[in-house]
Amino acid sequence: MNARPDPGLFFDPSKCFIGGLWVAPLGGDYLPIENPSDGTQIGLIPRGSKGDIDAAVTAARAALTGVWGKTPAAERGRILARIGQKVLERADDLARIEAMDVGKPLKQAKADALALARYMEFYGGACDKIMGETIPYLDGYTVYTLREPHGVTGHIIPWNYPMQVIGRSVGGALAMGNAVVLKPAEEACLTAIAFAQIAKEVGLPDGVLNVVPGLGEEAGAALTTHPGVNHISFTGSVPVGQIIQRAAAENVVPVTLELGGKSPQLVFADADLDRALPFLVNAGIQNAGQTCSASSRILVERKIHDELLARMAERYRALRVGPAVADLDLGPMVSKRQKEIVGSFLGDLGGAEIAARGTVEANAPNGGHYLAPTLISGVAPNNRLAQDEIFGPVQVMIPFDSEEEAVAIANGTDFGLVAGIWTADGGRQMRLAKAIRSGQVFINNYGAGGGVELPFGGTGKSGYGREKGMEALYGFSVLKTVAAWHG
Ligand code: NAI
Ligand code: MG
Repeated sequence: MNARPDPGLFFDPSKCFIGGLWVAPLGGDYLPIENPSDGTQIGLIPRGSKGDIDAAVTAARAALTGVWGKTPAAERGRILARIGQKVLERADDLARIEAMDVGKPLKQAKADALALARYMEFYGGACDKIMGETIPYLDGYTVYTLREPHGVTGHIIPWNYPMQVIGRSVGGALAMGNAVVLKPAEEACLTAIAFAQIAKEVGLPDGVLNVVPGLGEEAGAALTTHPGVNHISFTGSVPVGQIIQRAAAENVVPVTLELGGKSPQLVFADADLDRALPFLVNAGIQNAGQTCSASSRILVERKIHDELLARMAERYRALRVGPAVADLDLGPMVSKRQKEIVGSFLGDLGGAEIAARGTVEANAPNGGHYLAPTLISGVAPNNRLAQDEIFGPVQVMIPFDSEEEAVAIANGTDFGLVAGIWTADGGRQMRLAKAIRSGQVFINNYGAGGGVELPFGGTGKSGYGREKGMEALYGFSVLKTVAAWHG
């Protein structure tokens, strides 16, 4: 197979990584890698099949019953730390590869590489600090708990933040001593394959991490229905999350679902707008809005609506879109399909108005999937623009008159992932932090994607389970209670 790998790659993207070896996909099928900045094909990745997944699960099981199952926690920590160190050393390469693969501007891709390193440092340091409890019980007994790995964990990740999701999901699972099978998104496999190469170089034992690229309905479905998988972590769309939950029900395995959102930021008249403005806009346009925790709704107290709209519009008009290597504010959308999805929202404003748009650079390559960021005003809370996840650089502004109304609008979608509250009133900050239905609440800041240390996950259709922080380690472990009678 002529995979035509980019000469700058430090790995062969056309191989699966199974049991510590680089192997061709059993079916001999491949998928093209597209550079979304210009639409060119830059190589091939394996189109993994059921057989490849089966081999990966078998390899992971063998690692658990073999050397990995006997590796002390502190040693696991050292290995993760070495992965983190190597990711740091290769951060510029990883950023360039990611930028080429998914179109994100170089600086944003570099931030993802640094986040991946941070996850490995954080979870490396956490490995030997996960403790059980002793529990007071009846006379003559000693009772304690053990936190044990699930076993083989399956990870289905999306294309929008491959490195960050590998860090928070695979990092947590490895720290707890699980063995991993990772199915990256078909649009963005390169940094997952690079991660496997780095793990191999620093001495992660064979079979502890397996990477099988491929299509969701093929390799993905094979992984989530495999009876040898003991836990599934998924980040992606609601419909696929539902499919995965059904598959997990068959095998009765736990799942972590991170399914995106419609995250609001609530801006009150007493807010420090100078501080808020960059956060408000960036949370909508970062990674061209293809962010689960993007803030796609700006709820603003009516008294300052016109002022905030004018200031946001001014920022929007200054935003520039171009190829990833140009490192502007936004790159292209990841695919033609993703651009079309967003376009369909913009084609039906339901009475709302476009307040401002950014600019696609005139010399941006024709084959790239470029879309100007768009700010929309006059949006009714029940408009689909204010209800559905758009997953593109589109923010809607919705006015409110009272704190109660702001909370009602904020909670008035099916989602609940992240929320931001901008106000100087301490009492209101505390009230709203409690009243808003959301996995994370930021007060006078907003952290789309950031915060390795901060537990992250959804409520409602944003999913459930928590990744990031120490909380992830509980999710990637099983609690065992040991009751000993000694008289
Ligand atoms: P998707 O949910 O289809 O893809 C995410 C991952 O799931 C990929 O690795 C894919 O191969 C896998 N997958 C797809 N079907 C599967 C199946 N039947 N069984 C197992 N795995 C499967 O998302 P897609 O199509 O890339 O994007 C569509 C929409 O999903 C976006 O417009 C956005 O709204 C949402 N999305 C949300 C993300 C988030 O961060 N929460 C990330 C990506 C997409
Ligand atoms: Mg790609």
